[in-house]
Amino acid sequence: MAQTQVGIVGAGPAGLMLSHLLHLQGIDSVIVETRSREAIEATIRAGVLEQPTVDLMVETGMGERLKREGFEHHGFELRVDGHGHRIDLSGLTGGKHVTVYAQHEVLKDLIAGRLAAGGKIEFEVKNTSVHDVTERPVIRYADRSGNPQELRCDFLAGCDGSYGVCRQAIPESLRREYLRIYPFGWFGILAKAPPSNDELIYARHERGFALISTRSHTVQRMYFQCDPADRVDNWSDDRIWTELQARVTGDGFRLKEGEIFQKNIVPMRSFVCEPMQHGNLFIAGDAAHTVPPTGAKGLNLAVADVVVLSRALVDHYKGNQDDGLTNYSVMASRRVWRAQHFSWWFTSMMHRFDGVSEFDARRQRAELDMILQSRTAAQVLAENYVGLPMQ
Ligand code: PHB
Repeated sequence: MAQTQVGIVGAGPAGLMLSHLLHLQGIDSVIVETRSREAIEATIRAGVLEQPTVDLMVETGMGERLKREGFEHHGFELRVDGHGHRIDLSGLTGGKHVTVYAQHEVLKDLIAGRLAAGGKIEFEVKNTSVHDVTERPVIRYADRSGNPQELRCDFLAGCDGSYGVCRQAIPESLRREYLRIYPFGWFGILAKAPPSNDELIYARHERGFALISTRSHTVQRMYFQCDPADRVDNWSDDRIWTELQARVTGDGFRLKEGEIFQKNIVPMRSFVCEPMQHGNLFIAGDAAHTVPPTGAKGLNLAVADVVVLSRALVDHYKGNQDDGLTNYSVMASRRVWRAQHFSWWFTSMMHRFDGVSEFDARRQRAELDMILQSRTAAQVLAENYVGLPMQ
């Protein structure tokens, strides 16, 4: 039976970064992944990296292309009913910023880095299952040729996303799941157009939320709040542009339009599973939690989890110290809950909630006014947006 020190299920941001961090400390790992490398590298997800995530990529030798091709953003615009207000991220946080660099570009860099360093990633596996997690865990799967395989490991890292098998390996009687489903989704598009603004725009409007983001000088990413049960076929390009323009136009500003070449609908939910550990199984990233995309925290939170986990594993192998492993769930979930609160708050403040009382509608508007009028309140938004320091 094949063996490794840390078996990792899932080649997303959590699994790849964990494998990379362990490798730098001389700890061996193997990743198994159901998707193909091509599919992973083509899947469009969010695109904002917190300062601590960028720092980690750079410090661990994965930041070269990110530094070259990513866009540093020192602020963003809050647009309320067609009027723009700049949130000066750097001014409010003592010089911090975020970097716009798509998640699949991060994944490309990490996959290339792992493979160049001799890292083992088994793509396109099927029927993955995990066993004996309270003793010496085993991962069973069929490799891309259909041959059954078994991998025995000291520790198992469940980085297999919201619908993976690893979370289910924590017995239901020990697992607590916290879930909030929002009554709206995001309709996302990619369009061939020049940027409409130098910085991202988060827009609150009577018709609902909109977000104007970017991918490059020629490709723009935009979203608008929609019915989660809606279908992309219901939306012609004309209808999409009309809706987006209605939510952001004002003060002489209009979006630059172009050919729409991708449309998708993203559901919105907040989810946490605790504990994030059972025996020698540790879950990280979307396997343990989901945030609505408003705060752009998903990838960043996955990376923060595996920083905590990799330190704990290094303490185990090098320092003969297991406190880090014992405390992993407590340590990691502290940041998770901070990000949950922030993502929920920013989402709640920016979206249209149908059927709420007139009182709640006015209260929501007053909350936005607080951000726009109070430097202290804007600072809370900015500090959370750029990313809390890694613990
Ligand atoms: C994106 O560019 O896809 C993006 C940016 C900011 C968000 C969410 C998504 O808050």
